[in-house]
Amino acid sequence: MPTVHESVDTPPKASILIESMRDIGYSLETALADVVDNSITAKATNVHIHVDAIGSEARIGIVDDGKGMSRADLLDAMRLGSRHPHEPRAVHDLGRFGLGLKTASFSQCRRLTVVTRKDGITSVAIWDLEHVAKTDTWSLLVTDDEVEIPFIEYLGAEGSLVVWERLDRAVEQDGTDMGRKHFIRRVDDAGRHLELVFHRYLSGESGIRRISILINSVPLRPFDPFHSSHPATIAGQTEVVRVGGHDVAITAFTLPHHRNVSALDWERFGGPAGYLKNQGFYLYREKRLIIHGTWFGLARQMELTKLTRVRIDMPNGLDSMWHVDVKKASARPPLQVRERLQRLITTIGAPSRRIYTQRGQKMHGVPLPMWERVQENNAIVYRLNSENPILLAFQRELPQDLKVEFARMLQAVSAALPMDALFADLANSPESVRGAEVADDSLKSMLGITIAGLLMAGVGPGMIPDTLRVTEPFRSNWDRTETLLEQTGRIKDE
Ligand SMILES: Nc1ncnc2c1ncn2[C@@H]1O[C@H](COP(=O)(O)OP(=O)(O)O)[C@@H](O)[C@H]1O
Ligand SMILES: [Mg+2]
Repeated sequence: MPTVHESVDTPPKASILIESMRDIGYSLETALADVVDNSITAKATNVHIHVDAIGSEARIGIVDDGKGMSRADLLDAMRLGSRHPHEPRAVHDLGRFGLGLKTASFSQCRRLTVVTRKDGITSVAIWDLEHVAKTDTWSLLVTDDEVEIPFIEYLGAEGSLVVWERLDRAVEQDGTDMGRKHFIRRVDDAGRHLELVFHRYLSGESGIRRISILINSVPLRPFDPFHSSHPATIAGQTEVVRVGGHDVAITAFTLPHHRNVSALDWERFGGPAGYLKNQGFYLYREKRLIIHGTWFGLARQMELTKLTRVRIDMPNGLDSMWHVDVKKASARPPLQVRERLQRLITTIGAPSRRIYTQRGQKMHGVPLPMWERVQENNAIVYRLNSENPILLAFQRELPQDLKVEFARMLQAVSAALPMDALFADLANSPESVRGAEVADDSLKSMLGITIAGLLMAGVGPGMIPDTLRVTEPFRSNWDRTETLLEQTGRIKDE
């Protein structure tokens, strides 16, 4: 150790540090979520987000009816680093580093005003980046004058109002109207983000106080990424892992297959990024979603597990063990949990995987399917089934030399199944992939041949309609098939 001669106090240069803090990496949506966190922690039940994109200058106001702050509380709240990250937080406190209000706001705007009301006293404090730059000091502007504060009319008897002005980041200044249109779209996207992040608060899940969040008077609707209200969603057992004296609860969900939900729901629950990207762990800190759509590097995002989403619930006491960052947008599980999750991963994907492979295996339930799915030397092979009644009937009509040719033809078609293209299409938009059209007369002829073949294969007449119902091409053309069956029935009866 060298001998120290003196210790020099070197405070950061306010004008420089405050500018760099703007680039921690918040987006409009994560910044808004951080401000809403504070309202929830302050026990607000209503949070109104007002966005003014029309006036000469765009601005945003977030008003809550929480418990508000005294003047001293407000000065503390505006200080950068108001609470030590290791100081224990009250249960349900959504705060983390004592930075969120400031860093989130500065990431979007150059002027942050906080107005707060408690016990009949209104206090106002303003961080103005121009003022900080000019004075190069951490000087906060303080007043009790409410005149001309945007959105002040929405603040009730108790609560707080956060105002963002000079939105140089949220609204791109390109001199045209594009910037403003883009801004409005981003506010919409932010609304979707809040509907996901706070869905358990918005729905008033048991054990937490229900809150409503409105953007320009439009209430946000909770978006439950597990679609848990749908009967086709499979919810696994909740497992509890004890970490650092706290309980972490893990529940795996398998979302319904696209055949079991409406096209609209399929879209909605896939989210803008789609199912593949949205599979994985959903980590909630005090019921607030902080990270989602990742397997934390423990598994790959695969097509087979794309319907799997695993809810992890952790309390705020585990922040440092989970490496929760300032934006509350990323985290990494502690070692014990990682091990447990790793073991879970092998089993949790199973229902999602089953839903997909079942579609293949179901073929075995159909006697004499057109396509066979066979396991061969650890590989799965799809091929046309030469025992299928339609193929068999045709083959019987052929002269001997063409019989051999026909068998070769079936092999050629089977080998040329465009698997990559099918896979890609089914993965991207399964709802828009369907079998080729079958003309009426073809369907009729295939039906006759298939029924005869099924009878010959020992399928009882009573079982025929049920068998056809799960056999292509009848399954996909069931209305027409049923009409044809009725007609043949009538002809027989006559
Ligand atoms: N809307 C609000 N209502 C009441 N108190 C608030 C509000 N917003 C912020 N505060 C106070 O300011 C403090 C600092 O907030 P913030 O910078 O977000 O850090 P953190 O949430 O990590 O504590 C909070 O701990 C809280 O005491
Ligand atoms: Mg906070």
